[in-house]
Amino acid sequence: MWDREAETFDEAPDHGLRDPVVRRAWADLLLPAIGSPGRRIADLGCGTGTLSTLLAAEGQHLVHGVDFSPEMIRLAREKAANITPRPVFSVADASEPPLPLASFDVVLSRHVLWAMPDPSVALQRWIELLAPGGMLVLIEGKWSNGAGLEAARCAQLVGAHRADVQLQMLDDEVYWGGRTNDERYLILSTS
Ligand SMILES: C[S@@+](CC[C@H](N)C(=O)[O-])C[C@H]1O[C@@H](n2cnc3c(N)ncnc32)[C@H](O)[C@@H]1O
Repeated sequence: MWDREAETFDEAPDHGLRDPVVRRAWADLLLPAIGSPGRRIADLGCGTGTLSTLLAAEGQHLVHGVDFSPEMIRLAREKAANITPRPVFSVADASEPPLPLASFDVVLSRHVLWAMPDPSVALQRWIELLAPGGMLVLIEGKWSNGAGLEAARCAQLVGAHRADVQLQMLDDEVYWGGRTNDERYLILSTS
């Protein structure tokens, strides 16, 4: 299914970040939270690599994106071809990412945790990728079509593994390129 979605995926304002205002909003949301350049970031379920390339291009971060859709990864590699430092992409299952444990400063995932067969087990694996002091960055939602994870449930899932859970609702339409009437949020966890 995701291979079929890939071709038009970036047409949604928050997917392709083609509108500079929407792109700036995501940059201003994520870059200050992630901090100084050179952070090692795993972008799990990276899709067409929009956030991976944003973080590499504007934050000078070292990003490894993982997605199980070969077509998404093909487009991500195309998008990142001229980015320095160039993100690396792998076709793999994000529920068991084949990445070295305890080796990332940031594990980031947008709109993927909800689709994991067991979100709590996936989260445990994702957290194991973090080096000491590493940060988990989740962007999730409970969308009007019924899919997704409620913010309170997601915070509870993270809280089962981590002491720090910071929830921020992303109600501002600037992130989505228009009004929304569902629940969209960011969770940061630093410890
Ligand atoms: C809604 S898209 C989000 C893409 C990207 N994170 C973004 O925000 O632009 C969900 C992505 O997760 C990927 N995905 C879903 N389940 C996956 C899994 N088990 N392993 C790897 N990727 C997965 C899909 O292929 C798709 O690219």
